[in-house]
Amino acid sequence: MTSIAIPALTKDLVRVLIDADTIQRRVDELAYQINKEYEGIEESLILVGVLKGSFIFLADLCRKLKIPHVVDFISLSSYGASSQSTGNVRLIMDTRENLQGRHVMIVEDILDSGFTLDYLCRNFKARDPDSLKTVVLLDKPDRRKVNVELDYVGFEIPDVWVVGYGLDYAERYRTLPYIAEMVPVTD
Ligand code: XMP
Ligand code: MG
Repeated sequence: MTSIAIPALTKDLVRVLIDADTIQRRVDELAYQINKEYEGIEESLILVGVLKGSFIFLADLCRKLKIPHVVDFISLSSYGASSQSTGNVRLIMDTRENLQGRHVMIVEDILDSGFTLDYLCRNFKARDPDSLKTVVLLDKPDRRKVNVELDYVGFEIPDVWVVGYGLDYAERYRTLPYIAEMVPVTD
């Protein structure tokens, strides 16, 4: 097997916050908990990944699930070009699955102000699913503006901008295998 070189930090990547092995171990643990909790379900769990940031987390998580499941996606917009949440969430692309009477799990990359997940939970509840849970890889509790109930959380992190493992800055850094703190270099 060829080994893949871990990309080095660039000028604006300040430090590695969570390395690749630590992420994988935590994803294993989350999958273990989910497998246990949903053991014996007859109808597939619908995993709804929030595009784009969750796509790598979702890909790793779903491949560790032993319970029947299907993968779906939703696309929302709240930030526009800025990195501050406006609280004004818009649905850009809906799920393909009908969620009524189904077991649904929202898969999100990061919880910041909470506006996005709060909007999504209320929107999905109105569709009358059999059950609705949330799994979030990263939680920035210091930034919370609206209270959201989380069922599974990967890591709590400080109030810094993070990239890698699906997360981006202006579409950059999504495919880094680790999660790094980023501060844009202005010069
Ligand atoms: P809210 O504020 O609605 O935001 O909870 C959740 C969404 O904001 C994005 N977000 C980030 N994306 N690095 C990123 O790449 C970050 O540090 C970060 N903080 C928030 C993300 O899209 C998330 O779904
Ligand atoms: Mg996101």
